[in-house]
Amino acid sequence: MLKAIYIFKNDYENSEFRAKLNSKFAQSVTFLPISFDNQDNFRVFNPDEAINLLQNGKENELIKAVMAKFDSIKAEFIIVVGSGDELLDSVLARNLNAPFLLSKQNAHKAKLLGFKSICDIDEISNLQSNYITPLKFETLLYQKAAQKPKRVVLPESDDDRILKACDILLRSNAVGITLLGDKGQISQRANELGLNLDKADIINPATSDLIDEFATTLYELRKSKGMELAQAKELIKDRTYFGTMLVYKGLANAMVSGASTTTAQTIRPALQFVKTKPGVTSVSGSFIMCANGQIHFYADCAIMPNPTPKDLAGAAIATAATAREFGFEPKVAMLSYSTGDSGSGPSVDAIIEATKILKELDPSLDVEGPIQFDAAIDPVVAAKKLPNSKVAGNANVFIFPDLNCGNICYKAVQRTANALAIGPILQGLNKPINDLSRGCLVEDIVNTVLISAIQGE
Ligand code: ACO
Repeated sequence: MLKAIYIFKNDYENSEFRAKLNSKFAQSVTFLPISFDNQDNFRVFNPDEAINLLQNGKENELIKAVMAKFDSIKAEFIIVVGSGDELLDSVLARNLNAPFLLSKQNAHKAKLLGFKSICDIDEISNLQSNYITPLKFETLLYQKAAQKPKRVVLPESDDDRILKACDILLRSNAVGITLLGDKGQISQRANELGLNLDKADIINPATSDLIDEFATTLYELRKSKGMELAQAKELIKDRTYFGTMLVYKGLANAMVSGASTTTAQTIRPALQFVKTKPGVTSVSGSFIMCANGQIHFYADCAIMPNPTPKDLAGAAIATAATAREFGFEPKVAMLSYSTGDSGSGPSVDAIIEATKILKELDPSLDVEGPIQFDAAIDPVVAAKKLPNSKVAGNANVFIFPDLNCGNICYKAVQRTANALAIGPILQGLNKPINDLSRGCLVEDIVNTVLISAIQGE
């Protein structure tokens, strides 16, 4: 249900408009003026700080502070009163998921600023707003992870980006952190960078008491594949193997690594001994794509170069579960160059087969396939191509026919549509192990750790 609406400052100051609002909402409403220049109302920052942040391109910090204040208000309904800066107001309204309520005199601004708006106060009770911005989604991740904080191990303590991400995460109290490496070196680098990592656990695989036990376990788990004890002892010194073993043993809930290793190096230990969940044949990798106020899930974009129809069905089941984990009801599109029977060929047949398997595996799931991307996402195209489909035009889970399609497509959307791409989220493993891109930014690491913590529940 809608929790808030946003109004312009000059509408709030218009007594006729305010009287209408008051009579509509009576006592059940809280007014939240976004004002940086008065004492009594909303002072997240003093005006100088707010202006300073805006002038230095740190708008996100300001928005996050407003969002935190907004979330802390326990009210049935909030009317957010604009700051007077219309551009800032439009960004804030999106992040608060609050459509604008405009007086007639301000109605033209809605189009100019490109935001969702309503002009008739009586429409409010029927209105739903589902606009999700990247910042809003990030806030949801923190909130969800903080509900049951988990411990995440990050083996790559020699990477400054990892240390910076840990500092941010530890300050949030949403997760516990274990770093692998030498305590003295990590503390020294943290000091040089001005970071506080006091709350992190630090384990040095080179000197840890755990190493013999871990080597024996690795040997036991892999001897049927020809591994010798001496080989296991050598391998477990590798920080990715050691970190994965911490998760396998339950000494951490999840691992995030890959800032300096390839996907194959990062996930091979997990494939070798964490293994897949019962009933899951193949691990797949999904991305959460956040753009234009919507959240979509793409898979497989990371793992299976040549999936069979069974693998694709498995990836669809796993991605639907990931969507649910983050609060979205999945509608699954099995993508192809064909919609219904519009095209044919061996790769279309593979999608037909995958869709059939998927429907057998989970008859309750909303699924459509084969389907083209436009028919999956656009209600107008869907109405022409597949008018009776529950999924066409409304899909939020997109399963690509192979890794070439999935990997190229997520990067194309990320780079050309300015979408936030969070992932890859590895799905189907018994415990959460997630891979970072070597070009990852600090915020990518933060998001991946939060997601891994949420998967660890
Ligand atoms: N699901 C479950 N288990 C798997 C999978 C899978 N998808 N793939 C391999 N395995 C298992 C095997 O069964 C095997 O188990 P076993 O040793 O107990 O018998 C073990 O993992 C090792 O298998 P290999 O075939 O030797 O696999 P390898 O380690 O060589 O490669 C990998 C697996 C890394 C997933 C490979 O398929 C790969 O490189 N995929 C592409 C990764 C990539 O480059 N992605 C694009 C970049 S990522 C990005 O841009 C976000």
